Amino acid sequence: MTARPQPSLILGIETSCDETAAAIVRDGDVVMSSVIASQHDLHAEFRGVVPEIASRAHAEQITPVIQAALRDAGVTLGDITAVAVGNRPGLIGSLLVGVAAAKALAWSLSKPLIAVDHVHAHLYAGLLRMPGEAAPSPPLDATYPALGLVVSGGHTAVYSCESPTRIARLGATIDDAMGEAFDKVAAILDLGYPGGPALDRLASSPDANDRAFDLPISRLGRESLNFSFSGLKTAVLYAARGVPARDGSFPREAAALSDDQRRDLAASFQRAAVESIILKLGRVIESNAGVRALLVGGGVSANSRLRASLEAFAAKHGIHLSLPPLSLCVDNAAMIAGLAHHHLLGGDLADLHLQAHPTTSA
Ligand code: KG4
Ligand code: ZN
Repeated sequence: MTARPQPSLILGIETSCDETAAAIVRDGDVVMSSVIASQHDLHAEFRGVVPEIASRAHAEQITPVIQAALRDAGVTLGDITAVAVGNRPGLIGSLLVGVAAAKALAWSLSKPLIAVDHVHAHLYAGLLRMPGEAAPSPPLDATYPALGLVVSGGHTAVYSCESPTRIARLGATIDDAMGEAFDKVAAILDLGYPGGPALDRLASSPDANDRAFDLPISRLGRESLNFSFSGLKTAVLYAARGVPARDGSFPREAAALSDDQRRDLAASFQRAAVESIILKLGRVIESNAGVRALLVGGGVSANSRLRASLEAFAAKHGIHLSLPPLSLCVDNAAMIAGLAHHHLLGGDLADLHLQAHPTTSA
């Protein structure tokens, strides 16, 4: 277990995908500022993140975003205890911008440099708080051992967490990430990009029938802790456009769906996707008796149905649920700075040879 927190004021930097973010976090949990410059507008016409465009936008945004984070927190670079950066996993060109900025700042300020795993940081996001907010309950010491669930556009995995920094992966998606499936289904239904929030809104309309379409809930092997979303995504495609002919052509366009059918298909997809997550969490908790909490993070943890189902799951199993506020579900730098505090306490520092890695370590 991590030692009792010491005072710290950490500048966090996050550039792993299409958000340029910087934040100041005090003592590992109080978010003094969190600035996020999203590039969604730049990628929307391509219906996905274009790596080269992302790196260039990070290079333009990184300095003003860091300046805004310092200003919002009312601090100067001289007040900072350490500089932390998410250096893995992610798009290599995007990560490099954040790593270069963090190294330059740490070197010029003679402050420690801390490397943080972006996915592990998502698991920490629900343990942060805003200034003036009460400390999280239960306290950190009583939160671990915990289970972790990360559901984002790039990752869908479950973890066993002994402490904020000692984390082992138990299972992961074998094909699409959950957010990717939301975005692809939203594209089939022509809801824009990124489609997750739009699909959530449509599926949550009061008249939606989430059983109108019988879609598959992936189980994989009887004991598998992995996830799969590609079969569900294909089932939605066929429900919308019919089963393709031998030459790959579809009998109809998705535009032929009525508004009611589109809404019901969105709701049926969302139900199947969420149920497949809850099913796997049930398996994980069976083989991890004694866990005290479920830590959840990633963009899809903003999903209204998933949040409600996770609340019910945690209550049923008598464990605490750590679910970030919506602003900290998506990629942000506060989670990087918060987790970095625990690396700092453990003396786990990086040096100027720090590299960016496209894949995760665990
Ligand atoms: O964590 P994140 O910001 O970036 C990655 O690290 O991938 O997650 C972005 C993903 C996108 O796929 C987006 O569509 C999805 O999170 N998302 C949602 C919702 N809000 C964001 N998916 C479902 N329901 C939502 N409310
Ligand atoms: Zn992320």
